[in-house]
Formats: sequence, structure tokens, C-alpha cells
Amino acid sequence: MVRESLIEEAGVSVLFPKWFNAFPTVLAIGGACALALAVGGVWYYFTPKYWSVGYEPVQPGGGFSHQIHVSKLGLDCRYCHTKVEESPEANIPNVSTCYGCHADGRLKAINEKAGHKEKTQFIREAYASNASIEWRRVHKVPDYVRNFPHNIHLNAGVSCYSCHGQVNNMPVVHQVESLSMSWCLDCHRNTAPHLVDRSKVTQLDWVAAELKKRREQGDAGLAAGRKLHEDKHLNPPEDCAACHY
Ligand code: HEC
Ligand code: HEC
Ligand code: HEC
Ligand code: HEC
Ligand code: HEC
Repeated sequence: MVRESLIEEAGVSVLFPKWFNAFPTVLAIGGACALALAVGGVWYYFTPKYWSVGYEPVQPGGGFSHQIHVSKLGLDCRYCHTKVEESPEANIPNVSTCYGCHADGRLKAINEKAGHKEKTQFIREAYASNASIEWRRVHKVPDYVRNFPHNIHLNAGVSCYSCHGQVNNMPVVHQVESLSMSWCLDCHRNTAPHLVDRSKVTQLDWVAAELKKRREQGDAGLAAGRKLHEDKHLNPPEDCAACHY
């Protein structure tokens, strides 16, 4: 209203038809929509599903803490991810693995400790109804990438640490590395900073400390990795067909 009268007073209403007064409003609404779309787009593409570093989905039931089971209780990765050294895929354990410890009457003092009984109830329920726990997947390469081979990487002396970070200290698993093509290739072209003795690949704290120590030693530190590469005659592929169909 104020604007209209001002314009009329200035005598410009002849030049600008009446509907034109709505123009700034239309512009403002249009602008707001465009901004919302832009924000929405950025939000959509940069949420963890698309920009995966840090992706940490909420897990079902009382969840699963690697920090408790690996760092506190001392279980090795292979206690649960049993096939990780023999097959391309790292399997997720089924309910019976959990039930082995969390069945009624077992580990009594612990399972009946305040809070734990409730937190682990989903395990006994799934076991009783023969259902599986629907864990939400964290790490995933796109479908146009060939079956990623865990076994080959572990046998070459690449630790879980190099690709998944210190999972042993995570109460909830999240993604640490980008898993992008350049990330794969950076290591394939220069393995020395990442290789450890094959027997240590699941000792994540040890690996983290060892690789840090070697980095600090500079060139002398890299020699250990280079030697492992040469002794094993490693040959990480860079040709497209190794990773794509
Ligand atoms: C007692 C069983 C158990 C042990 C031991 C264990 N894990 Fe797991 N792990 C699981 C379960 C269950 C999941 C699925 C739930 C989740 O993601 O937290 C999982 C998920 C993961 C994931 C994420 C998978 C995804 O969806 O992308 C990684 C990576 C992983 N584990 C690595 C390790 C490493 C490395 C170790 C050894 C340091 C280890 N785990 C030891 C049970 C175990
Ligand atoms: C080797 C025995 C063992 C196995 C196998 C095991 N747990 Fe546990 N779990 C324990 C013990 C012991 C505790 C209590 C640890 C503590 O609080 O110090 C515990 C605690 C828990 C808790 C409650 C603590 C918390 O806040 O997270 C949950 C939930 C749990 N476990 C889930 C699972 C799931 C899911 C699996 C299977 C993937 C599993 N556990 C396999 C021994 C085991
Ligand atoms: C060289 C990198 C690399 C190493 C080493 C590695 N992983 Fe993985 N891991 C990946 C990638 C990449 C994926 C996603 C694979 C896919 O989408 O097919 C993955 C996926 C997983 C999953 C999810 C599997 C699923 O089906 O949900 C688990 C569990 C896992 N890794 C555990 C481990 C454990 C345990 C170790 C060490 C013993 C390990 N990984 C070592 C790169 C690695
Ligand atoms: C931290 C180091 C590292 C990372 C990261 C890594 N690789 Fe590798 N990769 C290796 C090494 C070392 C070898 C060589 C193994 C050998 O020669 O036995 C290898 C071998 C391979 C092979 C060859 C398997 C065969 O049949 O010989 C494939 C395929 C492969 N990697 C895929 C991938 C993909 C896909 C990614 C990323 C998602 C990836 N790698 C990330 C270190 C790595
Ligand atoms: C060591 C494994 C590896 C090799 C070798 C490799 N790629 Fe990839 N490539 C990947 C992975 C993993 C992705 C998925 C990256 C992501 O999720 O962002 C990818 C993604 C792509 C994409 C999708 C766009 C992008 O950059 O994300 C194209 C196109 C592609 N690769 C082409 C090629 C071509 C051409 C070659 C040969 C010169 C090649 N790749 C070699 C692992 C590899």
C-alpha cells in the first residue's frame, strides 16, 4: 500500500501498469523459492549418502559398539567378520553370533546389569523369531564398481585401519575415507605408506601407531613399506577393467 501510494504520488503509475506493483513481491517469492531449491539441492547431494565421509546411520535395537566388543573385550575382527580373509566380501555376523554371549542366563552379571538387559533384548527377540537384525550398511561402492576384494587387500598387508579407520574405538561405525576412485588409485600407485606385516592387519591401534611412526621418520620410514611391497611382488591394478565391468 505504502509503495503504491508513493508510486502514484511520484506520477509513475502511467509508466508502470498497476499489476507491476506486485512485481517486487513476485520477485521476492521467486527468489525465496530459488534459494530454497539451491539449499535443498546442496543438502540432498551433500548429505552423507552422497558425500560419504562421516556417514553414520542409526543402527537397529540397542546397536552394536565396536569400542566395547573389540577394544574393551578384546575380540578380534575375524571373530565376527569370519570370511574377510578368504572372500571378497566382509560378512556381517548373524544373530547367533551375538546370542552366543547375549542369551538369557549367559554372562549373567553383565547382561543383567542395569541398562544392558534392555539394550540387548533385540538380540534375544530376533533369535527367538528366527529373524535377522537389519543392520544399516555404512560403506558401499557404486554398483558399476566390480566386487571389491577384501581377501586380496588383507593378504597384501593392507590393514582394515587404512580403509575404515580405527573402528575398534567407534561406539557407532562411521565412514572415514571417501572410497572414491582417486582414493583407490592413490594407494595403488604408492602402497609403501600403507603396508604392514600381514599378521597385524586386524591390530588397528598397533597399525595406527606404526604408520604414524613411519611417517615421522620420512624416507627411512617408507623403506619398511617398500620392502613389504617388493618381497610380496605386489601389483595393484590401475587399468579400468580391474575395477569396472
Ligand atoms: C562381536 C562382533 C564383531 C566384531 C568382533 C567386529 N565387528 Fe565389525 N561389525 C559387527 C556388526 C554386527 C556390524 C554391523 C553393525 C554396525 O555397522 O555397527 C559391524 C560393522 C562393521 C563395519 C561397517 C560395515 C558397513 O556397513 O559398512 C566395519 C567397517 C567393521 N565392522 C569393521 C570391523 C573391524 C575392523 C573389526 C576389528 C577391529 C570388527 N569390525 C570387529 C560385528 C563385529
Ligand atoms: C564374546 C561375547 C560377546 C559377543 C559375541 C557379543 N557380545 Fe555384546 N556384550 C558382551 C559383553 C561382555 C558386554 C558388556 C560389556 C561391558 O559393558 O563392559 C556386551 C554388551 C553389549 C551391549 C550393551 C552395551 C552397549 O551399550 O552397547 C549391546 C547392545 C551388545 N553387547 C550387542 C551385541 C551384538 C549386537 C552382538 C552381535 C553382533 C554382540 N553384542 C556380541 C559380550 C558379547
Ligand atoms: C583396501 C580397503 C579396505 C580394507 C583393507 C578393508 N576394507 Fe572393508 N570395505 C572396503 C570397501 C571399499 C567396502 C565397500 C565394499 C562394497 O561396497 O562392495 C568395505 C566394506 C566392508 C564391510 C561391509 C560389508 C557388508 O556387506 O555390509 C565390512 C563389515 C568391512 N568392510 C569390514 C572390514 C574388516 C573387518 C577389515 C579388516 C579385517 C576390512 N574391512 C578391510 C574397503 C576395505
Ligand atoms: C591402502 C591401500 C589400498 C587402497 C585404499 C585400495 N587398494 Fe586395491 N590393492 C592394494 C594393494 C596393495 C593391492 C595389490 C594386491 C596384490 O598384488 O596381491 C590391491 C589390489 C587390488 C585389486 C586387484 C585384485 C586382484 O585380483 O589382483 C583390485 C581389483 C583392487 N585392489 C580394487 C580396489 C578398489 C576398488 C579400491 C577402492 C574402493 C581399492 N582397491 C583401494 C591396496 C589398496
Ligand atoms: C582401483 C580401482 C579403480 C580403477 C583401476 C579405475 N576405477 Fe573408476 N572408479 C573406481 C571407484 C571405486 C569409483 C566410484 C567412486 C565414487 O564412489 O565416487 C569409480 C568411478 C568411476 C567413474 C564415475 C565417475 C567418478 O569419477 O566418480 C568413472 C567414469 C570411472 N570410474 C572410469 C574409470 C576409467 C576410465 C578407468 C581407467 C582409466 C578407471 N575408472 C579405473 C575404481 C576404479
